[in-house]
Amino acid sequence: MHHKTYSMILMVAASGVILTIFQFWLSSYYDTALLPHDVKDPVVLWWSPFVGDENRLSTCEDVQCYFTQNKSFTSHLLLKAILFYGSNFNVADLPLPRSRNVTWGLIHEESPRNNPILVHDDALNLFNYSATFSRYSDVPLTLVDLPGEEELTDTSYLVPFKEKSELVYKNSLAPVLYIQSDCDTASDRDSYVAELMKYIQVDSYGPCLNNRPLVESLKDNHMETLMSKEFLSFVAKYKFTLAFENAVCNDYITEKLWRPLIVGSIPVYYGSPTFKDWLPNNQSAISVLDFKNPKDLAAFLLKLANNEADYQEYLNHKLLDRDNRITNDRLLKALQSRPKGYANDFGNYVQAFECFVCRKVHNSQRSLMTSKQYSCPLPTNPLTGKINHGNVWVDQWNIEKCGAKLLAHFVSNNKSIDIKQFNNEQFRMYNKAEC
Ligand SMILES: *[C@@H]1O[C@H](CO)[C@@H](O)[C@H](O)[C@H]1NC(C)=O
Ligand SMILES: *[C@@H]1O[C@H](CO)[C@@H](O)[C@H](O)[C@H]1NC(C)=O
Ligand SMILES: *[C@@H]1O[C@H](CO)[C@@H](O)[C@H](O)[C@H]1NC(C)=O
Ligand SMILES: *[C@@H]1O[C@H](CO)[C@@H](O)[C@H](O)[C@H]1NC(C)=O
Ligand SMILES: *[C@@H]1O[C@H](CO)[C@@H](O)[C@H](O)[C@H]1NC(C)=O
Repeated sequence: MHHKTYSMILMVAASGVILTIFQFWLSSYYDTALLPHDVKDPVVLWWSPFVGDENRLSTCEDVQCYFTQNKSFTSHLLLKAILFYGSNFNVADLPLPRSRNVTWGLIHEESPRNNPILVHDDALNLFNYSATFSRYSDVPLTLVDLPGEEELTDTSYLVPFKEKSELVYKNSLAPVLYIQSDCDTASDRDSYVAELMKYIQVDSYGPCLNNRPLVESLKDNHMETLMSKEFLSFVAKYKFTLAFENAVCNDYITEKLWRPLIVGSIPVYYGSPTFKDWLPNNQSAISVLDFKNPKDLAAFLLKLANNEADYQEYLNHKLLDRDNRITNDRLLKALQSRPKGYANDFGNYVQAFECFVCRKVHNSQRSLMTSKQYSCPLPTNPLTGKINHGNVWVDQWNIEKCGAKLLAHFVSNNKSIDIKQFNNEQFRMYNKAEC
């Protein structure tokens, strides 16, 4: 048997807006496409469209499983688990009725922006295993967007304080950077930024609240340039960078936070309420929630922008002795113990999740996913702290709550779904406030 490296590309078209391309490499798999009757190991079926190798027998330490994307295995006697990618989990296309012997697994590093049914207990409880942004999931993806410890402590992009101050005059840069292309979010982030802009200058280059044109070279291939050297150097010139997530979920942290930390611009953060648990030091970013309102935040930022000593306190991960740059043990431990092979590669986590599931199905261990493993409260407006009923996402989430309840009913009653009937019933329940 020879080892072979496989390249897999998962393409996820979410909400018709975001096209995310993950490319990952899965190694140490045997090159095997078996006929169903030749499969002797537990079968794990990927229901979501992972493009790449269809079938492989995979070894996870002392156990083996047969991984396939071929849906003809849905009725295979050895089928033990079906795995879903969150953004593609779709009630109109599910392996129903569900046999009692078949467990379900969910992998999702994205927020429920792409699939709000997933925030509801009734939907989460359908799954047995999870790999999500939450630290409490079976294979946590919390740090999937953070390249590594090296990048956090590296100083190659760091622009010294004095130089940043000079750029304010030379290039008429604002102290604060905002760059966002998704303006309609559950987190209502733009309403906060618009208010903040009244009290402090913010250079906004993206389509949202735009007030400054992006240089042509950065404009092209927007997605690809987000981690390019040119873009990182661009962000590094700013004293502060607004890092506002598109959703507010515990441990849902994206490159929006990591990028400014990596280049040495202080992140002003709104998103995961637990984000401080993952900062390099206890003072590496500024939380919007620590301020009464945008006006107070602006006053604080203006003061900090003009006080070098206080400002530099936020850059200990760049400025202290090599050995002391990161003091957060939780972060260091998580970085050391995360799935390795190809740093910051989604494929490592997919592989770790596959093996987690494989071991579970071999042991016939019972488990159930809980809301702790995908914890996203109903969106509130950051300005008011209250639920904004004018935000369509709030309606969307409430409608999906009925969807989740209905779906759980179908699954537990061993029924398949007629999507038209399902949608009608879902809206009827919503209109009668039955969820
Ligand atoms: C799925 O498996 C069946 C049975 O082995 C086979 O006939 C079919 O061609 C496979 N489909 C794909 C897309 O490989
Ligand atoms: C479920 O598994 C048990 C024990 O492994 C087996 O006896 C039973 O036939 C299976 N049921 C179905 C519906 O596959
Ligand atoms: C931050 O950590 C340092 C040492 O690690 C400690 O002395 C300081 O009190 C902490 N500050 C806050 C605000 O927790
Ligand atoms: C998997 O989850 C379902 C609920 O969705 C539960 O009924 C079943 O017992 C679980 N299976 C295992 C093996 O834990
Ligand atoms: C679920 O439905 C399938 C197909 O309709 C049937 O073969 C199976 O026996 C049912 N299982 C249970 C537990 O009712």
